[in-house]
Formats: sequence, C-alpha cells, structure tokens
Amino acid sequence: KKVTASCPATVANLVCGFDILGMALNDPQDEIEMTLSDVPGIRISHTDGYALPSDPAQNVAGAALLDLMKEVQEPVGFDISITKHIKPGSGLGSSAASSAGAVVAANHLLGNRFSSKDLVRFAMAGEKVASGVKHADNITPCIMGGVTLIRSIFPLDIVQLSAPPLFVTVVHPQIEVRTSDARQILRKEVLLKDAIRQWGNIAGLVSGFLQKDYDLIGRSLEDVIIEPVRSMLIPGFDEVKSRSKEAGALGGGISGSGPSIFMLSRESETAIAIEVIMKEVFQSIGIDYKTYVTTLN
Ligand code: HSE
Repeated sequence: KKVTASCPATVANLVCGFDILGMALNDPQDEIEMTLSDVPGIRISHTDGYALPSDPAQNVAGAALLDLMKEVQEPVGFDISITKHIKPGSGLGSSAASSAGAVVAANHLLGNRFSSKDLVRFAMAGEKVASGVKHADNITPCIMGGVTLIRSIFPLDIVQLSAPPLFVTVVHPQIEVRTSDARQILRKEVLLKDAIRQWGNIAGLVSGFLQKDYDLIGRSLEDVIIEPVRSMLIPGFDEVKSRSKEAGALGGGISGSGPSIFMLSRESETAIAIEVIMKEVFQSIGIDYKTYVTTLN
C-alpha cells in the first residue's frame, strides 16, 4: 500500500498570536510518498538537494513517526520518500510539513485509526527535534487546513477558525534565521500595557476572521511584543511592511520565526502589486529572495 501526502506551507503566529495562531497556504507544498512495509522500522529518503538527516530519530518526519508507533500495537514499517519545496529555515513551516505529512500518511496506511488531534500530538515530536521546543502553531494548520488556534498546548486544545478568502504574498529572503535563535532573543517579561494591546489585537483578529470583517483583520495585525525584537534580524522588513500597506495590504509581518515576510490582501491585484514591492526591496538591498503569491488553504 502506498499513499502520497501534500503538505502545505504554513504561517505561524499571524503577527499578534505568537505560538497560538497559524494558517495554511496553497503554495508551496512538500510531497511525502509512503509505503507500508512488513519489514519493521522507518526508512527515509530525500529526493531533493537538502542535506537532511535520514536517521529517523534525528529527522523531523522520523521523530513524529516514532512517536506514533509507540501507540501502534503491531510491528509496522514505513518507507518514506520526501520531496521538499518548502525550504528548511524559511519560517514557512518546513519542519511541520514533514512531520505532519508523515503522520497523516502513516495514519492513512493504518486505516485512519488516529484523530487529527492525535496526529498533532505525534507531529510535535518532530518540532521538538527541529527547534528544541514542542509547538503546534505550524503543525495544526498543516494537518487541518485554514486558520487554527492553539488555545492550550498542554493539554492540547485546538480550535479551527473560519476565515474569509485571503490572498497571501510571501517573500523569503535567502538569509538564515534559526528558530532557536529567534526565540532566544525574546524578552521573557512583558509590560502590562503591551499585553493589553496584544490581547486586544488577538481577540480582534479572531473576531475579524469569524465575522469575515477585513477591516478588523487589518487593524488587528499588529504585534507590540515579538516583532519589534525579531524584525531586527530581517533587513528590509520595515520597508516591505510600510510599502505593502500603502499598496492596500490588510497587514502582515514575520512568518513564524522568519526570515520570510507575509502580507494579507483582499484582492489578487493587491497581492500581485505587493510581490513587485517585495522584489524591489530585496533587489535594492542585494539579498537573494523567492516570492509566492498564493491563497489561504
Ligand atoms: N511560533 C513559533 C515561533 C513558530 O515564532 O517561534 C516557529 O516556526
């Protein structure tokens, strides 16, 4: 038996919702081909040029599968071939795509015995390998699609949010920002006045999605806690953001822990105009980049 899983890129945090909000994109997507085997164990191959570990315990997909296999009584084996289109270290949920895709494919091969919530739990073991901490804000939208809220991680409490159609423009500057570093630099304490502003924005953003209120979404895409610190690691960030907003973007910010920047728009023309701006900014700075114009999955 063989299955192929398409594993979408995801934008974690959605500006104000650090570690709790995320959305899935239609492009880029990774592909995972998996075969159930009588030979117990996990065998991983990569069809791309990235030097990713194939030892299951060191590999994000392998670590997620090892966690799943602890809850499978019978001896099983998986042969996996991973084709990555989401570049590792892009801030677009590359590790989540591999770990989520692996457990979704395995669950299919095992007759869908696990719930989506179980799969999120297994896939978090992959995130632990990738960044040292278990977080689910990329994995959950990757598995469930759309916009998701992790109300709590221990115990896991997931809320799927409805949202209006959205265009998403992404630029991935080809610089490296490691998630672990981007977490290390954050202040551990928050001023009450900043917290109030932030939770106002999170509540506003969630309400904006549910009520399909584009203006409210736009007003709520503000982060007074994480972005001021992390944006220092991303050259061109302020210019991309201010010019995109002038061009009609609802708003946007750092995708996950960066370095990718994403902008949301209501119209496709705006999303395309923002791509032009992103290209101009990174060309003028002299940093290689890749852009995507896509939609909310
Ligand atoms: N919420 C996590 C962070 C996502 O911002 O560190 C990492 O991809």
